[in-house]
Amino acid sequence: MSEMDATTMMKQMVGKAAADRVKSGSIVGLGTGSTAAFMIASLGERLKSGELKDIVGITTSFQGDVLARQHGIPLTTLDAVDHIDIAIDGADEVDPNLNLIKGGGAAHTREKIVDGLADRFIVVVDSSKLVDKLGSTFLLPVEVIPMAYSPVMRAIEKLGGKPQLRMGVKKAGPVVTDQGNFVIDVKFDAIDNPVELEKTLNNIPGVLENGLFVNVTDLVLVGEVKDGKPSV
Ligand code: 5RP
Repeated sequence: MSEMDATTMMKQMVGKAAADRVKSGSIVGLGTGSTAAFMIASLGERLKSGELKDIVGITTSFQGDVLARQHGIPLTTLDAVDHIDIAIDGADEVDPNLNLIKGGGAAHTREKIVDGLADRFIVVVDSSKLVDKLGSTFLLPVEVIPMAYSPVMRAIEKLGGKPQLRMGVKKAGPVVTDQGNFVIDVKFDAIDNPVELEKTLNNIPGVLENGLFVNVTDLVLVGEVKDGKPSV
């Protein structure tokens, strides 16, 4: 099994394991990314088989809208419901306190809204996402209103971060979020206090939301490979 195949299989298994926890009649927050995509596909299969009934999804990205429609999951909006029963989403890093870095898919603003509203928030990751300290392997994404990206980058430098504007395919231009904004990816030498850093970054004028998710996760399901076989 190649390394690539193992990671994909871990994501698939963990996505399915999370989808299996969704009960009929639930309002479900649908995360973004390759692991969440397996979860959405798995929910669609359960619906098609009749094992799962009457769920309605709230997506966190345009990618989620497309996938949910493709897999026959009815969608609603936050205007039409007063709660979310369960949200399932991927992450880029998970620390021992279950705090996260998200936003590798530039969807962290909507994800933070939906995941944070859910009665139960389940994170689905492969084992490569587990870290001792946030920021050790992944840059921290910060969504920023386009006209403010230069002053925001300077403000982030003053905080000790090394910011870079996220560029799209072939670096033809900046990545644009579903809200029409840019993403700045920031290297911090160490994120010792994610609670404080989340607030400090969001206080910079022009910042919409950053990818630190603190004190919101209820459960993390981790896909692993043991003895050459993927498991959750
Ligand atoms: C998107 C996210 C994703 O959930 C995160 O990047 C993980 O993605 P993947 O499951 O593809 O590794 O935060 O904004």
